Amino acid sequence: MAQLFTPFTQRGITLKNRIVISPMCQYSAQDGLSNDWHLVHVGSRAVGGAGLLLLEATAVAPEGRITPDDLGIWHEEHLPGLRRMVEFLKSHGCVPGIQLAHAGRKASHASPWKGGHQLGPDAGGWSTVAPSALAFAPNETPPLALDEAGILRVTEAFRAAARRAVAAGFEVLEIHAAHGYLLHQFLSPLSNHRPDAYGGSFENRARLLLEVVAAIRTEMPLHLPLWVRVSATDWTEGGWTAEDTVRLALLLKENGVDLLDCSTGGNVATAPIPVGPGYQVPFAEQVRRCTGLATGAVGLITAAQQAEHILATGQADVILLGRESLRDPYFPLHAARELGVEVAWPDQYTRAKSRL
Ligand SMILES: Cc1cc2nc3c(=O)[nH]c(=O)nc-3n(C[C@H](O)[C@H](O)[C@H](O)COP(=O)(O)O)c2cc1C
Repeated sequence: MAQLFTPFTQRGITLKNRIVISPMCQYSAQDGLSNDWHLVHVGSRAVGGAGLLLLEATAVAPEGRITPDDLGIWHEEHLPGLRRMVEFLKSHGCVPGIQLAHAGRKASHASPWKGGHQLGPDAGGWSTVAPSALAFAPNETPPLALDEAGILRVTEAFRAAARRAVAAGFEVLEIHAAHGYLLHQFLSPLSNHRPDAYGGSFENRARLLLEVVAAIRTEMPLHLPLWVRVSATDWTEGGWTAEDTVRLALLLKENGVDLLDCSTGGNVATAPIPVGPGYQVPFAEQVRRCTGLATGAVGLITAAQQAEHILATGQADVILLGRESLRDPYFPLHAARELGVEVAWPDQYTRAKSRL
């Protein structure tokens, strides 16, 4: 039996296979509200046979949106749209998950196809916040450094978002602590120059993430898994390292986190990243081997045999698919055929399952 199609159980939740749709911003919301695009986008991937879909980075506070077009979960009015997606995913055997996010200094930008530049208040943007008043790029307006009350508001925003996510029916919650967004900004010594209890030592830089984990865990029933996505390295001298990630993984494991989703980069605009097939997989492998925490591998995984090899060699527990799933929403059904595994197709499509 191909590993890719073995079930994966954490706490009380079972994925029917190891294929997870990686969170991918659609930049298609208004005031954080989802619409038909989001339902069709996530629905297609559920029909395509994924075991779990992690909904895109969903902002826990309006000022935490990367763009004005991000999904949000800072208000009860976001819930009906989210519930509609959750119900559709569940009805097709795909576990609904959501990534909870705050962009920090990388907030208030135009969506990629609108230019991707920083937006000032006169262009529909807002003031951004971060651990320190350090801009991401030299041409950008620096963020405001959060004071302790501001940090507490961030933790409470994640807590309230988790409560809403559970109320909406999501069964896996992922904290976005990667790609140079707020929690990563706290972790990395390159973006965190704070002199207080949230900066300086490794323990201090990890403090906010651990407080967010604790707050979210108190809102989640024990049978639901909590995942964290990190950037396992800044790919930059003096930045966050793979060794830091292993150390963090041990702390997360002790504090109720069930899986580390191992991405990289995003906190340094000019970092030299050696992009290539499966280039981030070694980080997932290192964390899994050194800590025993379950891991997710992501990044340029594009073929069934490649995904199968990663699992069969014990490098990760699940495979997250990003762009390949945009190219082929039915990747899981196609991968099953390629690996010789019998999986159910949606009733409506069974006449197309056999090529004869
Ligand atoms: C359109 C698009 C949107 C993305 N949005 C998010 C996001 O919301 N949260 C996140 O953690 N990563 C996001 N990513 C990164 C992906 O989840 C994934 O980590 C990355 O694309 C590498 O995997 P891939 O090579 O399979 O695409 C996005 C990537 C793409 C292409």
